[in-house]
Amino acid sequence: MITKNLTEAVTQLKQGQLVAIPTETVYGLAANALDGKAVSKIFALKERPVDHPLIVHVSGIEQAKSLVTSFPEKAQKLAKAFWPGPLTLVLPKNDRVPDLTTGGMESVAIRVPNHPAPLAIIEQCGFPLAAPSANPFGRISPTTALHVEQSFGSEAPLIFDGGSCQVGVESTIVSFLDETPCVLRLGGLTIEEIVKLIGPIAQVGKTAKSIAPGMLPQHYAPRTRLLILEEKDPLPAGKLGLLTFNHASNKEVFQAYEILSPEGNLEEAASGFYSALRRLDEASLDAIIAYRFPDKGLGKALNDRLERASHLN
Ligand code: TXA
Ligand code: MG
Repeated sequence: MITKNLTEAVTQLKQGQLVAIPTETVYGLAANALDGKAVSKIFALKERPVDHPLIVHVSGIEQAKSLVTSFPEKAQKLAKAFWPGPLTLVLPKNDRVPDLTTGGMESVAIRVPNHPAPLAIIEQCGFPLAAPSANPFGRISPTTALHVEQSFGSEAPLIFDGGSCQVGVESTIVSFLDETPCVLRLGGLTIEEIVKLIGPIAQVGKTAKSIAPGMLPQHYAPRTRLLILEEKDPLPAGKLGLLTFNHASNKEVFQAYEILSPEGNLEEAASGFYSALRRLDEASLDAIIAYRFPDKGLGKALNDRLERASHLN
């Protein structure tokens, strides 16, 4: 059921139930992060492997501090500058955080969502909320309440409707477990902004050894085959859809097309990205053709999502 009743959402969460919540990035499937039994319901509904750690949502830096054994200076600097916002920090966890929440890891991923609804819900609950994206494991992330309902059908939990997500891609995850901070997932906060504030950072798969648990090459995927091509490339046969940033001179040859930002604005493109992918996925196409985004700012995160959506195709 979709609701706008905050008290109802808080009551369910206090009773150990799941509630889907809006955030500025994507909708999350939330439970009391400190209650292992409640958290286990997230894994069951999402059909998510239990060694994939969850992100814990808190209302501010003080609540974040109550979950960790250390909070390095650079991490605090980022938190002060970008929370609430699309930034997740991985820090050493303390005993208050159940192993189930962190997939058995000694660290915990924490962020403060930039949306009034989850902030009010966390405040009223009095506990932090563990919430992965509210979609079945490996599928397209939801950016509206309706997406969540469509994804889970009759199994859907209570869904708090907070409108469509403004940022539209998941948070950027930065780990502070090693001496050099390391980006584990590209997302809604750009690397450029992070580097400007705290200096050089490592990036998983590039300079850093550490790997991000739960980051699979195939992820965020539509059911329709997705191919990343360049505009000059020949097209395969069949009914094709196009997903592109700001223009395509050949758009008329496609059965359906999604031009994410005709004015070339990456924020606008990110905000509509998953909805556009869903529409194409529902258009009974043989394949979705995607053209890459500029390799800077949010374009890097969008290219990452395209690559994961196209993997194994
Ligand atoms: O924007 C977001 O981050 C959204 C909204 C709902 O907040 N949440 C989200 O959660 O994208 P999810 O479950 O789809 O992604 C969580 C990812 C894991 O797959 C893993 O890569 C990383 O966060 N993660 C969580 N805990 C971690 C830890 N202790 N160490 C390293 N990575 C961790
Ligand atoms: Mg996810």
